[in-house]
Amino acid sequence: MKISFIDPRIAKEGIVVIASFQDKVLPMASQAVDVLMQGELKRILKASSFTGKRNEIFSIPSPRGLEGVTQLVVLGLGKPDDLTPLILEEVGGKLASCFYKTQYKSVYIHIPHIEAPHIKDEEAIVFLANGFQLRSWTFDKYKTKQKTEDKSALETILCASSKPAVSTTFFDDMNKTTQAVLLTRTLVNEPANVINPQTLAKQALDLKNFGVDVEIFGKTELQRMGLNALLGVGQGSQYESQLVVLQWRGSDAHEAPLAIVGKGVTFDSGGLSLKPATGQEEMKGDMAGAAAVIGLMQACAMRTAKANIVGVIGLVENMPSGSAQRPGDIVKSLSGQTIEILNTDAEGRLVLADALWYTQDRFKPKFMVDLATLTGGIVVALGHERAGLFSNDDKLAQNLMGAGIDTGEKLWQMPLDAVYDKDMDSEIADVKNTGSGRGANSITAAKFLQRFINETPWAHIDIAGVEWDKKDRPLSRKGATGFGVRLLDRYIRTFYETH
Ligand code: BES
Ligand code: ZN
Ligand code: ZN
Repeated sequence: MKISFIDPRIAKEGIVVIASFQDKVLPMASQAVDVLMQGELKRILKASSFTGKRNEIFSIPSPRGLEGVTQLVVLGLGKPDDLTPLILEEVGGKLASCFYKTQYKSVYIHIPHIEAPHIKDEEAIVFLANGFQLRSWTFDKYKTKQKTEDKSALETILCASSKPAVSTTFFDDMNKTTQAVLLTRTLVNEPANVINPQTLAKQALDLKNFGVDVEIFGKTELQRMGLNALLGVGQGSQYESQLVVLQWRGSDAHEAPLAIVGKGVTFDSGGLSLKPATGQEEMKGDMAGAAAVIGLMQACAMRTAKANIVGVIGLVENMPSGSAQRPGDIVKSLSGQTIEILNTDAEGRLVLADALWYTQDRFKPKFMVDLATLTGGIVVALGHERAGLFSNDDKLAQNLMGAGIDTGEKLWQMPLDAVYDKDMDSEIADVKNTGSGRGANSITAAKFLQRFINETPWAHIDIAGVEWDKKDRPLSRKGATGFGVRLLDRYIRTFYETH
């Protein structure tokens, strides 16, 4: 989809989108259209039930006075005072949802002056266009027989801007993050017969093209280094486990990096503690944390972020087989702590235990954030609306929460009280990989991770439930959401790149 910004013009063809505020109040550009229509626009709106509330859409076919225009779409923006960048993105998303099956190749959005008190006109239209793009993207590469009427033919979006050159520059920057979100979505949507630890590592290797330094460690090296907790999870798979280290150097060499760690279980069958058949296919998405790290690193590299950033992903496939890890096994983690495996389906924490320790030990980062589809419990608690946030650092937690509100990738902070930790003591080893089953699964999982964190400010984001949605969301169609890329990109932009 090609998005461009042009000087406002009165279109004579195709689909034209204009805006209305609440109570049918028309911004200036829409009033000019009404003049061309000799007052017909206002008359039609007056007679209709359209009010101009945010996300309301009203369409006028073959509007009089705009010969050649097939549809004049009026987009409700609500109250100008309420508009924020995210709301504009979501309105753009809503607009995109009207064109899922359109035959038209191009849309012209005629909203050059949004007249919102807190947002510049030339930026407002860019947020709207960005939301349009995020919401219209689909993963349809495996649909070989898609009927043309089921498919949107939309190729170009033309947006009127009061300053097209400024809008274009602003969009180009934002689009780097958006393209990274789409990469993450692609990786999560891909099935597990395509994405395995090797092929996902290969995807990460491609970031070299953008100036990211990539190291890939295979089984022999990981054994030598002692990442036995991670290796144990992957030992039942035909694919070798991998640890991938990505480095973007955008600041002084001596400055400690920011570290993002991702769970990359390319398929989680549960291992010998096999999952029930229903819903097993969803576990192809158990690498969504790793996919978000790859996306984030691409975004930061493409926009040459002024920060040093390290991305570490642990890639394994959790399968039952003659060589699989058994319940009761004890492994020695990289940290030196021994772990008793009670349930081979609680595997993400084993991967992260080694990946987190490795990251903090090697890089001494300013902070570490991990993204992981870690527990079903967080889906019970928060559904598909918010990810669970656990942190040993209030400032980090607060700032991440803020970035979540700004990007629509919302978080909710969960407790890490010391009492939950006792539940993770093992009778026979230092720690066991599941609690005693008396609830608070997501919290005991986070407490397990915390045993592998020293003084480093750390946040764990449990993204099970938000990485995928069976329904459309304001900024994504059903399927993978790309959760985490926009969130962390915003967090880094706001707090580490403004000097
Ligand atoms: N990958 C799952 C968690 C998950 C569930 C992700 C639903 C996405 C959607 C994880 O590895 C898992 O199986 N966790 C278990 C842990 C339990 C055995 C202690 C869970 O949450 O049930
Ligand atoms: Zn599992
Ligand atoms: Zn898992």
